[in-house]
Amino acid sequence: MNSITKGRSPFYPGQPVPPNLFVGRKTEIKRIIRALDQVALGKPQAIFLTGEYGIGKSSLAGFIKYYAEKENHLLGIHVLLGDAETTEEVAIKTVEAVIKSEAYKPTVTEKVRNSLDKYISKQEFFGFKINLEALKTDGPNLSRGYLPFLREILERVKGDGIKGIILILDEINGITGKPKFSHFIKGLVDENALSRNPLPLLLMLCGVEERRRDMIQHHKPIERIFDIVEIEPMDTTEMIDFFTKSFDEVSVRVEESAMKELCRFSAGLPKIMHIIGDAVFWVNKDDVVAGDDAIMGIRDAAEEVGKKFVDQQVYKALRSKDYHSILEKLWKVVDFDSPSFQKNTLEEGLSETEKRKSNNFLQRMKELNVLKSGDVRGEYVFTNRLTAFYMLLKSQI
Ligand SMILES: Nc1ncnc2c1ncn2[C@@H]1O[C@H](COP(=O)(O)OP(=O)(O)O)[C@@H](O)[C@H]1O
Ligand SMILES: [Mg+2]
Repeated sequence: MNSITKGRSPFYPGQPVPPNLFVGRKTEIKRIIRALDQVALGKPQAIFLTGEYGIGKSSLAGFIKYYAEKENHLLGIHVLLGDAETTEEVAIKTVEAVIKSEAYKPTVTEKVRNSLDKYISKQEFFGFKINLEALKTDGPNLSRGYLPFLREILERVKGDGIKGIILILDEINGITGKPKFSHFIKGLVDENALSRNPLPLLLMLCGVEERRRDMIQHHKPIERIFDIVEIEPMDTTEMIDFFTKSFDEVSVRVEESAMKELCRFSAGLPKIMHIIGDAVFWVNKDDVVAGDDAIMGIRDAAEEVGKKFVDQQVYKALRSKDYHSILEKLWKVVDFDSPSFQKNTLEEGLSETEKRKSNNFLQRMKELNVLKSGDVRGEYVFTNRLTAFYMLLKSQI
């Protein structure tokens, strides 16, 4: 196999993973399935799916949506809120998501779209165009009548055996800062719980823990409405499963020594796993990934992470020769799980000159918001795992 005829990479950096390449998350899935079963029995549920950036919230939500449609006969709606800043925009994006989504059963998709045809301006053989003007005009009504809107959609497809709705509100960064959103969500949950005939709804919000805190700060009762499901970094078995399955798609085998490197550098973060996997896929020239292929790929992946996810100022600062020896030392003392380290452990065995450089380094990294002080005296915590990994990758290879 050469690079011209390589074909499609089985890795998906920056995209939700397709269901057949989705690995792990058994504990989280089990918990969510329990909630889904309750919904199918008519009892509404609310889940906050949390975990750091790149850990796999959107992918797990997508997987659950697929599962819920197939096994629980729910209608799945996955809304990427993105730049939405008002509850009207949340409602508009929800309607858009409903129109665009392909339900598990094509007849369901068709019925749902027909019921919303006033928001569809052109229906051709392939695809359609959403009438944003009409949606914008109705925005305030849709936002006020959010629950009735969901109810109406469900009514339309009940005949097809659909029992309820799973509504995923994802990419909530732009909206959680707005007090109105907290009230909107609490209102939605309460209105449904108190109604004579509650809509079988699994409401799932996806976001980092800080976003949930923002919401609570704006409206304290938010604290009580969600079951929290936290996604942890993957363990080694899951990572091996991931790399084996993905390379298997293109009939490539991974040698044990290479696998060790892939796992060590990915450190359980799916986002990094895909970036590294993709880089190794392009570097590799035959049907076996050997140790040196892995190292070469990891080096490219480091550059990719640096360019895409590391702040330009930090990126530049880390290129300083002065810092290189400190970075090398740093990685021997970092606790990968947090990731964090102790200042005095870092300083052990450093000369006076090196200590000065190290102080200067810590200061600079704090200014650049790469590091912050931890709870324990002398503890430094990385604010962002991707930056931490970039530093790790740069310092070791
Ligand atoms: N369980 C999984 N199996 C395989 N790949 C995954 C899994 N979860 C996430 N990924 C991949 O990791 C990357 C980040 O996932 P994403 O769901 O976007 O994270 P988040 O929403 O938490 O930021 C994506 O490239 C995605 O394809
Ligand atoms: Mg996401």
